Amino acid sequence: MQKADLIVGLQWGDEGKGKIVDNLAQKYDYVCRFAGGHNAGHTIVTEGKKYALHLVPSGVLNKDAINIVGNGVVLSPKDFIKELEQFDDIEGRIYISDKAHLLLPYHAQIDQAKERLKGDKAIGTTGKGIGPAYGDKITRVGHRVGELHNPKKLCEDILSYFEINKPIFDAMGVEVPDGGELLKELEFYSQKLSPFITDTTLMVWDALDGEKRVLLEGAQGTMLDIDHGTYPYVTSSTTISAGACSGLGIAPHTIGEVIGIAKAYCTRVGNGPFPSEDFGKEGEYLRKKGKEFGTTTGRPRRCGWFDAVAMKHAVRLNGVSNISLMKLDVLDGLEEIKVCVAYEIDGKEIDYVPYTLEGAKPVYKSFKGWQKTEGVREFANLPQEAQDYILELEKLCGAKIGIISTSPDRDDTIIRS
Ligand code: GDP
Ligand code: IMO
Ligand code: MG
Repeated sequence: MQKADLIVGLQWGDEGKGKIVDNLAQKYDYVCRFAGGHNAGHTIVTEGKKYALHLVPSGVLNKDAINIVGNGVVLSPKDFIKELEQFDDIEGRIYISDKAHLLLPYHAQIDQAKERLKGDKAIGTTGKGIGPAYGDKITRVGHRVGELHNPKKLCEDILSYFEINKPIFDAMGVEVPDGGELLKELEFYSQKLSPFITDTTLMVWDALDGEKRVLLEGAQGTMLDIDHGTYPYVTSSTTISAGACSGLGIAPHTIGEVIGIAKAYCTRVGNGPFPSEDFGKEGEYLRKKGKEFGTTTGRPRRCGWFDAVAMKHAVRLNGVSNISLMKLDVLDGLEEIKVCVAYEIDGKEIDYVPYTLEGAKPVYKSFKGWQKTEGVREFANLPQEAQDYILELEKLCGAKIGIISTSPDRDDTIIRS
């Protein structure tokens, strides 16, 4: 049986997963999203045109690939329908799991209300309703995409959920939806999405049994994983490779290569510990040069140096066989480049990710900078200092760097293996 290859983010998201999935998708028959929702923002640049994808898998630009939104995703019908409008030939090329959970407008209202009430303890969520939608799933009061086949019953169930939770929602200032309007909205979603809803688990099994090439696309990043990230400053899903099994319904032994995506430096959007954050002019340089502003919320991303300790942790957690190192060109022109190789916590130096990264100070190793890598497509054509940097990162992280990206463009990519 064919094995499915997996793409996963190794840092705090926005590593450049979209570019690599798009790039590799040309060689795959199926591209399947397994976690997250429209908190994700994957940017793809091809032939000078820029696409921002949130729920639609990044394989969509390969006209021959079938795209699957797995059961592990929380799906906002409203946002999904809007996103599909960018493509005119989508029917038969995208399917949604009937077991994926619905993310409805009230989830976003609850998310935003909770963040407001938390004040300076806010997580800095995207405000899209991700936490409340996964919360409803886990506490078994959520609704699945398959329920859109019977909008009337779904509407009644949602109204009764509001009835039960009214005191809580009133306290948070969350509006109870009007029954008539809600039904109309659900009927619209049902009519628009019915052609796409199916049992995607069976589809993926059939694809693997039929020797099709399947690519699994992660969202967010390892350090945002609900169990292994910087809790509570994380997202609400299993972002690591294990999430692909539950989020699509496939067995661990059917996973083939695990390709981890990492930037040549580090960013984080939202609150929470980020030991190698640079608050000075280099951080600002990376933000400007790397255009580090969120695809989903437009927020400026916090920027800093490559964290080799967190990377080693991510390589192990995901079983990464190959790293794609992105945005190397953003480091062009810097005199000195730093890499975090240990943390200092309470006066002690450690080289692993502990229970919490609160208060962890970075211990840096310094590298000599270089002038230009932008647009380079062969490893041997990179400046010697950039080659040295990459070879040292491989040693520090314990995985091979097989792909190096030197611009947003699909073709500015070095393939080493
Ligand atoms: P994702 O969420 O992991 O898919 O990443 P995002 O799309 O949120 O952020 C990555 C950004 O970096 C996008 O704007 C890409 O177009 C851009 N990008 C990807 N690879 C490169 C690269 O090698 N160099 C530069 N300069 N930009 C890149
Ligand atoms: P992609 O797939 C970067 C962050 C939010 C916040 C935390 C929780 O584009 O890499 P949530 O709305 O999920 O409850 O917010 O997670 N976050 C991301 N950061 N890239 C993402 O996705 C993210 N998705 C969520 O900023 O800190
Ligand atoms: Mg992103």
